[in-house]
Parts: sequence; C-alpha cells; structure tokens
Amino acid sequence: MAGNRTLAIIKPDAVANGKIGAIVAHLEQDGFVVRAARLARLATAEAEAFYEVHRGRPFYDELVAFMTSGPCLPMALEREDAVARYRQVIGATDPAEAAPGTIRKLHAESKGRNAVHGSDSDENARREIAFFFSEGELAGLWGR
Ligand code: RTP
Ligand code: MG
Repeated sequence: MAGNRTLAIIKPDAVANGKIGAIVAHLEQDGFVVRAARLARLATAEAEAFYEVHRGRPFYDELVAFMTSGPCLPMALEREDAVARYRQVIGATDPAEAAPGTIRKLHAESKGRNAVHGSDSDENARREIAFFFSEGELAGLWGR
C-alpha cells in the first residue's frame, strides 16, 4: 500500500559498532515491521547510483567512501505513515541536532557517520526499495 513503506539502511558505522539489534528493536517497538532485509557490502558504483541525487555536493565522495567501507543492512519497513514516522524516529541528519531518544541521537557518531538512512518521500521509498530488493523477493515476502 502506498505510503506505508520506507527504505531504511543501518549504515556501516552502526553495523561495525554492533548496533543492528538495538536499532531493529527500537524500530519494532515503534510499530515498524521488517518486510525485507539483507546484509550487503555496496560496491562503489552502487553507492554512487543510490546517492546520485547528491552527486556534486561537497560531502558526496566522503559519503560514497563511507557507505562502501563495510557491510550495511538495507531493510524495507512497513508501518502506517512509514516515511514521515521513520524520519521522526531517526531524528535530524546531524546527531548533535537530533532530538533526545532518537536513533541518531542514541547511536550516530557524526553528521557523516550517522547510523541510518531513510527515504524522504513515498516516491523515493518505492525507488529505493526496488534498488535493493527484487520484484520476486518482495512478492514472495509481501504477498500479492
Ligand atoms: P539519509 O538520506 O542518509 O537518510 O540522511 P538525510 O536525508 O537526513 O540527509 P541527506 O541530506 O539526504 O544526506 C545524505 C547523507 O549524506 C551525509 N551527509 N554528510 N558532512 C556533511 O555535511 C553531510 N551532509 C550529509 C549523511 O550521511 C547523510 O545522511
Ligand atoms: Mg536523504
């Protein structure tokens, strides 16, 4: 159902710091259901394509290097009002500005190494879920 899914990534800093369990538990306690998940090590070309919208920005090369530095965990999450609610629960991009109790405040190291990614619109959620999970995988997991 449109509007009820978002693409989350537990980023390489959080995976390396042993935060997968804490972050998934936080999301499940907030009502999100994990509908697809896979540990992945992104190739440079994949990270560049995923963050194409940021190409040319000053942090782009650093972002691609960070996202390919170790395994990450993309997940398709489902919940009512998933995109907006997920962005509330993760907090601001920079953990120094994130609200108390948010995932980035609790687990992120810095604005660049900020523990998690989240889609910023329903349209991008569809695009980003399709980036990581095939139609066949999703049909089998979600039903038709
Ligand atoms: P995300 O896409 O990862 O959920 O994060 P976001 O929407 O809160 O932030 P966005 O503006 O889309 O930036 C994407 C990612 O680039 C890194 N970044 N670093 N050092 C910097 O100034 C800077 N600015 C952005 C962060 O990893 C951010 O999540
Ligand atoms: Mg973003």
